[in-house]
Amino acid sequence: MTVGSPDMNNDVANFYNGSGTVRVAGKIRDRWGGNLHNGYWHDDADDAPPEVATERLTDLMIDLLEPRPGQNVLDIGCGIGKPAFRLLRAHAVRLVGITISESQVEQARVGAAEAGLADRATFEYADAMRLPFPDDSFDAAWALESMFHVPDRDRALAEAARVLRPKSRLALADFVLRTPISEAGMQVVDRICETFGVHSFSSLDDYLAQLSSHGFTALDIRDISDNVARTGTLLADAWESVREQLVENGNSAEVDAMISATRDFTSTPEFGYVLISATLD
Ligand SMILES: C[S@@+](CC[C@H](N)C(=O)[O-])C[C@H]1O[C@@H](n2cnc3c(N)ncnc32)[C@H](O)[C@@H]1O
Repeated sequence: MTVGSPDMNNDVANFYNGSGTVRVAGKIRDRWGGNLHNGYWHDDADDAPPEVATERLTDLMIDLLEPRPGQNVLDIGCGIGKPAFRLLRAHAVRLVGITISESQVEQARVGAAEAGLADRATFEYADAMRLPFPDDSFDAAWALESMFHVPDRDRALAEAARVLRPKSRLALADFVLRTPISEAGMQVVDRICETFGVHSFSSLDDYLAQLSSHGFTALDIRDISDNVARTGTLLADAWESVREQLVENGNSAEVDAMISATRDFTSTPEFGYVLISATLD
């Protein structure tokens, strides 16, 4: 099953370009080190701070991508470029990052220049459903927590398959829905879709079937739901601690909706989180 709204990308772009509440919320994430994705904790006793845990998730994705020197990598939904910079520091690859947020493009370009990586990294405003690249342009691609935003994931995967050369690797980090979904669970899923501009939640089975229909064979599937679960609580706590400031920049109902939806990610058993690596036929 798949849930989500067919609306277009505007709400996602607004969310990431940021105004009012969301801009402040983004700054909290920035303090986590600039990764706009979940952290990874080994177990309950692991007390790594978010900025370390989020880098661990990037490292897991780098392992799944298995980059080789000289490869041209596409970063689908690159955020402000933090995962890309880590990949580029560890491997002699080139990278093109795309995002639906103009402000992220700017931040990623500045970040690349500051990190001395601008000669191997470019960042562009582009939609994952309409990639502005010729067929067979890339040797590898990854999408760290971006596919769930895309209004038509089927189209985005078709585009990824088109721009990747045969035998390329694709690595994904994404939320999946664990079925069956209770009525209460469904309400939470709907609330999260609305609050965070989410369009494409599906079960893992549907995700894999969609990948396969575009010529991708899954090589590795890691359910790391328990390892990332702490993220929602930590992030909601961080937002709660600056709630006054958030309310000044937004309205209190919006702020409270964001905080409670963030906690819901952790407390709702219907949400799972997987890493997938696949190879193109
Ligand atoms: C949760 S953030 C993850 C960012 C980055 N991958 C990271 O891990 O730090 C989601 C990213 O997906 C991008 N995104 C969402 N919908 C998109 C679309 N249709 N096309 C391209 N990028 C999109 C957002 O702009 C944002 O950069």
